[in-house]
Amino acid sequence: MNILIINGPNLNFLGKREVNIYGKSSYHDLVNFLLMYAQEKNHFIEVYQTNHEGEIIDLIQDNHHRFEAIIINPAAYTHYSYAIYDCLKSIDNRVVEVHLSNIYEREDFRKISVIKNACEKQFFGKGFDSYVEAIEYLNEEV
Ligand code: DQA
Repeated sequence: MNILIINGPNLNFLGKREVNIYGKSSYHDLVNFLLMYAQEKNHFIEVYQTNHEGEIIDLIQDNHHRFEAIIINPAAYTHYSYAIYDCLKSIDNRVVEVHLSNIYEREDFRKISVIKNACEKQFFGKGFDSYVEAIEYLNEEV
């Protein structure tokens, strides 16, 4: 399966930011982990990260036609970006939402995902494995 993986703001600071929550592994480690996993399982993935809301939208609009599915971790935009919600609603791809941490066991503002209803499913709280669960789900539930 071809999957576009998009990561939002501050995820490039993995390993430096709130290590008690996100762990010590870097963003580079996450990308390598995902690329190796995909290669092992014969999936084709492209992984992007940006700190900018509009760039997330541009990435989706410009690339969605090349992929069957999208895995998105919009980071803090999860909780307030109706622009990303609208963008996800405007495409036909399968979309799955992912978070490294358990957004339901943190601050109250994180318990709301405004993109949730534009996604088939959410995976959260498993660190890098949240992404693996999302990839597996997309492949199982065809
Ligand atoms: C996050 C959770 C968000 O609440 C937060 O703003 C992030 C990362 C996660 O992967 O756990 O930046 O999306």
